[in-house]
Amino acid sequence: MSAPAEEKSSFVINGKSWSGAVHPLKRLLDTIREDVGLTGTKEGCGEGECGACTVFLDGQVVMSCMVPTCQAEGKQITTIEGLAENGRLHPMQESFAQEGGAQCGICTPGMIMAAVAYARDPGSAEDMREALAGNLCRCTGYIRIFEAVKKAMAK
Ligand code: FES
Ligand code: FES
Repeated sequence: MSAPAEEKSSFVINGKSWSGAVHPLKRLLDTIREDVGLTGTKEGCGEGECGACTVFLDGQVVMSCMVPTCQAEGKQITTIEGLAENGRLHPMQESFAQEGGAQCGICTPGMIMAAVAYARDPGSAEDMREALAGNLCRCTGYIRIFEAVKKAMAK
């Protein structure tokens, strides 16, 4: 059997246009890491369960391990690398570092992306827990993560 055909794929990632030859069903997670070369987005479960691979697609939170690259065609992608501005970490990134919201770090990029999305339209503490419920962490016990999100939003 011959290898599946690659096709030209184009999208904007972190404000920069990208195009390359990619199989249309390649996971967006893999395209971002292997073809675009941005390795901040992590793989945990690879099954849509852990949130480690969270990115924004046209501003919406998606699990990039569950999105075929063809679905990103012509769209805007934001990854963890796209949050910093002018060489300064995003306040959410700073807070995670300051509050110890990151330990092994596998969940952290996805957790921060989900937290940034939540911070656009925040609600109660319970709402925050719900907003982050799709992002699993095996290290921190979540308390420091919640504290980091609260601190970033108070900035
Ligand atoms: S790696 Fe995508 S949800 Fe776990
Ligand atoms: S810091 Fe290790 S899984 Fe969250």
